[in-house]
Amino acid sequence: MVAPDVATVLRIGVPSPEHAGEMLTVQRAAYVTEAQRYHAPGIPPLRETVQEIRADLAGAGPALVARAAWLGSRLVGSVRGRIDGAAMEVVRFTVAPDVQGGGVGRALLAALHAAAPASVRSFWLVTGGRSEDNLRFYGAAGYRRTGTVVDDAGVGLVRMERDREPLPAEV
Ligand SMILES: CC(C)(COP(=O)(O)OP(=O)(O)OC[C@H]1O[C@@H](n2cnc3c(N)ncnc32)[C@H](O)[C@@H]1OP(=O)(O)O)[C@@H](O)C(=O)NCCC(=O)NCCS
Repeated sequence: MVAPDVATVLRIGVPSPEHAGEMLTVQRAAYVTEAQRYHAPGIPPLRETVQEIRADLAGAGPALVARAAWLGSRLVGSVRGRIDGAAMEVVRFTVAPDVQGGGVGRALLAALHAAAPASVRSFWLVTGGRSEDNLRFYGAAGYRRTGTVVDDAGVGLVRMERDREPLPAEV
């Protein structure tokens, strides 16, 4: 449930290439906490450049769905979904640190799920194995643990997946 003060002014929409700078700013701020947790300043979301985000949003890479969240005129979060066959990988899911815990993330992820083309039958992602808040968040969103991987910064990650079918609470 989105907190009432956020729900009244929150808008979820499609970011365009000119939003890349704001998205990078929020992404850097949000992922610093994760980087500190793992003593890994080189995690991939912190290495991404504004040019790469702009190209992603311009459709230069593999099939992509992106959503961003605005509180008034301020971009406070975004998420991207990369499509490969019948699966969508959820990446770069970020909410500005000062508004985390207010329901923006839940609204963003639900919007991404809903925006996935009908050909997408499942969603998957990786998240830090010691990031208890994230593991709880994705568990509540219907994701279950399916494996572990180590990223190129040496961080142990958990792979999580869920089916396309809406959860009872989402119907
Ligand atoms: C993960 C993230 C996108 C969630 O967005 P959010 O707006 O904070 O999430 P919501 O407010 O919609 O949902 C709150 C739930 O998310 C979880 N959560 C995850 N990170 C949290 C945080 N920093 N603060 C508060 N709750 C957080 C909690 O489980 C909470 O559930 P609870 O109410 O049962 O405690 C956001 O916290 C974030 O940007 N984190 C840093 C970057 C990151 O780790 N991204 C995900 C990488 S896989």
